[in-house]
Amino acid sequence: MDRMARRAAWEQLSETYAVRRDPEGSDAALITQLLADCPPDPVVLDVGCGDGARTLANLPANAVGLDFARQGLSLAAETVPEARLLQADMQAIPLADNTVDGITAYYAVFHVPHARHPDVYEEFARVLKPGGRLLLTLPSGRFETVRRGWMGGTMFFSAPGRAATLEQLGDAGFEKLRTETASDPLGSTSEFVFATHSP
Ligand SMILES: C[S@@+](CC[C@H](N)C(=O)[O-])C[C@H]1O[C@@H](n2cnc3c(N)ncnc32)[C@H](O)[C@@H]1O
Repeated sequence: MDRMARRAAWEQLSETYAVRRDPEGSDAALITQLLADCPPDPVVLDVGCGDGARTLANLPANAVGLDFARQGLSLAAETVPEARLLQADMQAIPLADNTVDGITAYYAVFHVPHARHPDVYEEFARVLKPGGRLLLTLPSGRFETVRRGWMGGTMFFSAPGRAATLEQLGDAGFEKLRTETASDPLGSTSEFVFATHSP
């Protein structure tokens, strides 16, 4: 699926996704750990925020939500009215270099073709301040697939494999990588990686 089709898929499915998944999973609690490693009153960017109930809603009031789907952002504006929201692609984040203290990216990067994941991680590194923190879903497998019928629509998923993702993060200047497994929004479990940007 090209970028336009991937965005159209999320315009169609953001509301269904928001309704179907549980905002109380243990993955939401990982944000507390991320914030403990950030300076006071951190600016945290939530990439692929969707409706924001799991991520943005647990971030400090000056958080920024980014998503390329207008429908997800409309829901986020209701869920987290105090958050600043940006409609943009994670491959071209409209923020200056070294501006955020932390980034959360929950279940989002694997909707970008994995050949482009290194560009996404470079973009995360660019907007993070030195020493900034990243909390990211870490897909276990290697796949690139279009799932027809996913939540009643069609959805694109792509990841290069667990080891390759960790290597790509290292290549983008992330270190002190550590992982944790948590319950995910749709009733299963997912691994997450915490990393520190060390240019
Ligand atoms: C599975 S949802 C996760 C939403 C939210 N992070 C959560 O955990 O509830 C993935 C989100 O990523 C967004 N997304 C996918 N590809 C994107 C891209 N290239 N740039 C920005 N947002 C993207 C989708 O619109 C969708 O809202």
